[in-house]
Amino acid sequence: MGVEVGVLLSEIATSDTHGEDSPYFAGWKAYDEDPYDAVSNPSGVIQMGLAENQVSFDLLENYLKQHPEISNWGSGISSFRENALFQDYHGLKTFRKAMASFMEQIRGGRAKFDPDRIVLTAGATAANELLTFILADPGDALLIPTPYYPGFDRDLRWRTGVNIIPVHCNSSNGFQITVKALEEAYARAVAANIRVRGLLLTNPSNPLGTAITKTVLEEILDFAARKDIHLISDEIYSGSVFSSAEFVSMAEIIEARGYDNSDRVHIVYSLSKDLGLPGFRVGTIYSYNNRVVTTARRMSSFTLVSSQTQKMLASMLSDREFTENYIKTNRERLRKRYEYIVAGLKNAGIECLRGNAGLFCWMNLGPLLEEPTREGELSLWNLMLHEVKLNISPGSSCHCSEAGWFRVCFANMSQQTLDIALRRIQVFKEKRKTIKGQALL
Ligand SMILES: Cc1ncc(COP(=O)(O)O)c(C=O)c1O
Repeated sequence: MGVEVGVLLSEIATSDTHGEDSPYFAGWKAYDEDPYDAVSNPSGVIQMGLAENQVSFDLLENYLKQHPEISNWGSGISSFRENALFQDYHGLKTFRKAMASFMEQIRGGRAKFDPDRIVLTAGATAANELLTFILADPGDALLIPTPYYPGFDRDLRWRTGVNIIPVHCNSSNGFQITVKALEEAYARAVAANIRVRGLLLTNPSNPLGTAITKTVLEEILDFAARKDIHLISDEIYSGSVFSSAEFVSMAEIIEARGYDNSDRVHIVYSLSKDLGLPGFRVGTIYSYNNRVVTTARRMSSFTLVSSQTQKMLASMLSDREFTENYIKTNRERLRKRYEYIVAGLKNAGIECLRGNAGLFCWMNLGPLLEEPTREGELSLWNLMLHEVKLNISPGSSCHCSEAGWFRVCFANMSQQTLDIALRRIQVFKEKRKTIKGQALL
């Protein structure tokens, strides 16, 4: 029915800065067309490209069973009215309080969050875009360490007209961010006459599955202060670090420094990963800068969280016994999954970067590449998708500067499906070894 040409659309509508043509999204499409199912489609594609947390879903379901009143209209008609009628863009105080205290709990109580600084958004996607709108003008740039979450190309650039300048990190130091790499990226922007307005970190990192060390965080904040730029810390995986002691939030650094330079720091969070609720669309911007808080609140009108969702989650997150048990159990389960997949891959002769967080591991298939280039990587990715029937994300879609790295998600499937995926990788690896061996004869 759709007509491809005809009445003109806006530049934004027709630009391709959304990046959704990358292999990262193409892999999802291939999965959608032929999804694995143990009974109805056992030779289908297994989705390992989706950073979704299903390992603790039973805890949420049990809570809802024990508290049915929170997921229905509670006291009936009056509650329906409360949900349905006007909500102003401040969000519900009870929910902002619950979010602030959940964020403190995740950080082992080492950082404080003021509910009045919590701006609610429809997920971290909206939070990151909204911050970009506030901090930068079209043509300006944000520095982002690589490899980074492919969605940033869409979220930060597409509608804002802002550029991303990659800060190239590599395997020689486990992809850690260095001042040298930051300075190099900044110098590239200066040489291209592009104004840098901020630096965006993802801590813990997607796709690396590692938390940034305190020393590196200190260096990064010093760099931002030296260049007089903003610092966004996307901490969406902060509750998915295998133990709270392994994670340092930018909030802790700011507090330890007596809030010096805090007006350039903004933290992004969401319930999509730690609580496994991406469908609920709940995110937040936590800024130490009053003007940013006020503007973000106004802008959040475009991307509010429904009253019903806020009410339900306010009840759940205010239940301390539930949240404590959830955070602890979820961490243990993620660690177990991580160790299981890394051991399985090791058995197949495949190494991963040592991780301590997240819903994925960063796998090195460099030794299997026909040629150590982006093309070589994409041709292996293609093989993995169409022959091995696994959708994994190639490092190049995360702007990784070294070929051969892939992000593999492990928390969006059952243990049985994970076993099948590992078996497929093992068989593929064996076959590959034989072919290579024959080639040598
Ligand atoms: C680093 C990072 N930021 C933001 C998002 C978007 O999350 P949300 O579902 O809350 O919009 C993701 C999702 O994968 C992510 O990995």
